[in-house]
Amino acid sequence: MKLMAFNGSPRKKWNTATMIEHALEGAREAGAEVELIHLYDLDFKGCSSCFACKRLGRKEVGVCTVKDDLKPILERVREADALLVGTPVYFGTESACTRAFLERVQFPYLNYADYSRSHFPRKIPTALIYTMNVTESMLKDLNYPVVFERARNFMGLHFGSCELLLSTNTSQYKDYDKYETGFNKDDKARQHAEQFPKDCQAAKELGARLAQGYQA
Ligand SMILES: Cc1cc2nc3c(=O)[nH]c(=O)nc-3n(C[C@H](O)[C@H](O)[C@H](O)COP(=O)(O)O)c2cc1C
Repeated sequence: MKLMAFNGSPRKKWNTATMIEHALEGAREAGAEVELIHLYDLDFKGCSSCFACKRLGRKEVGVCTVKDDLKPILERVREADALLVGTPVYFGTESACTRAFLERVQFPYLNYADYSRSHFPRKIPTALIYTMNVTESMLKDLNYPVVFERARNFMGLHFGSCELLLSTNTSQYKDYDKYETGFNKDDKARQHAEQFPKDCQAAKELGARLAQGYQA
């Protein structure tokens, strides 16, 4: 069982990366082989709309023909048994880098002739982790769940299944006295000390579930 994880935050040690690390720990303990890729280390763009992956008579189905840093990674995705994508919320949606990745990893598998039949050769479990500054009640007022659910549905459609895990009210920086903010620093510190470890534990359990493979 090979789990590929993608960090869509430019920060390699903060909220999103920490959640992913916990998921990978859970997956490893459950016997999975894991690989973590930091998307911001790679030189790639979103879908170029070349439609090579939809052309009739194409040599291979479900393959993005764009040659950049993502090409070898997308080849490994074809062989993966589970996928995990973590992203910070930027302006109410995934980070730009994550969005570009989600376009590239999914569009080749979108079957334009029959949306219900993915070109991905197997069914595998996937998961999306979102970390964000807003509190749980704010995210509902801002309609974020619509965005998260849409992304979850697309991943499920293309790969088999997709779970969502959210971490809200994250700490953005170590010292709230040094930056402008409308957030209460004590509330942030409390959240980080009390809720974030629970979110990390939930991520660990998510990783263990992904390691079980696809469950119908
Ligand atoms: C450019 C930018 C835009 C952001 N937009 C939002 C937003 O719309 N909603 C939100 O809840 N948090 C927003 N945030 C906060 C991050 O989503 C949050 O701090 C996240 O946990 C950061 O993840 P990281 O620590 O892995 O980088 C934004 C942060 C940045 C840098």
